[in-house]
Amino acid sequence: MIKLTINGKSQQFDGDPEMPLLWLLRDELNLKGTKFGCGMGLCGACTIHINGEPARSCVTKASDVAGKSITTIEGISTDGSHPVQVAWAAVDVPQCGYCQAGQMMTACALLKQTPKPTDAQIDSAMAGNLCRCGTYIRIRAAIHQAAEMSNTRTVARPNAEVAR
Ligand code: FES
Ligand code: FES
Repeated sequence: MIKLTINGKSQQFDGDPEMPLLWLLRDELNLKGTKFGCGMGLCGACTIHINGEPARSCVTKASDVAGKSITTIEGISTDGSHPVQVAWAAVDVPQCGYCQAGQMMTACALLKQTPKPTDAQIDSAMAGNLCRCGTYIRIRAAIHQAAEMSNTRTVARPNAEVAR
């Protein structure tokens, strides 16, 4: 039995401990916001936070997160009011949208660590998140905009509301 916290809510999982966390989130908990891209830790589409740090859920085993706190895109706010969400909408960042949950999770982690990042810091932090639509310029603009919002320092806060 694996016990963990997902978006502020205690969860138990008694399935295969080798199961990728991404499968656990999407197939067992119906948290479909986190996407499958490469399945090899290379594209960043599946990025979530483990104890506040960005991680690739496709290459993380369920057993690796026992006792840990996971935040997914569903957990950053219940109503789209997180600065990154607001900025993403204002800048109209997504094109096809497939990579965007992972982009936003990495952006949240960056802003928590570095509240006012430079272009170089943004490019470095976001380098592992690929976008086949090439939205990188808008991503950078949205991160700057989110950084300007007064509540940026509360990014990546887990909450009890989980979309199921
Ligand atoms: S799907 Fe996990 S890094 Fe690409
Ligand atoms: S918006 Fe299409 S892959 Fe990034």
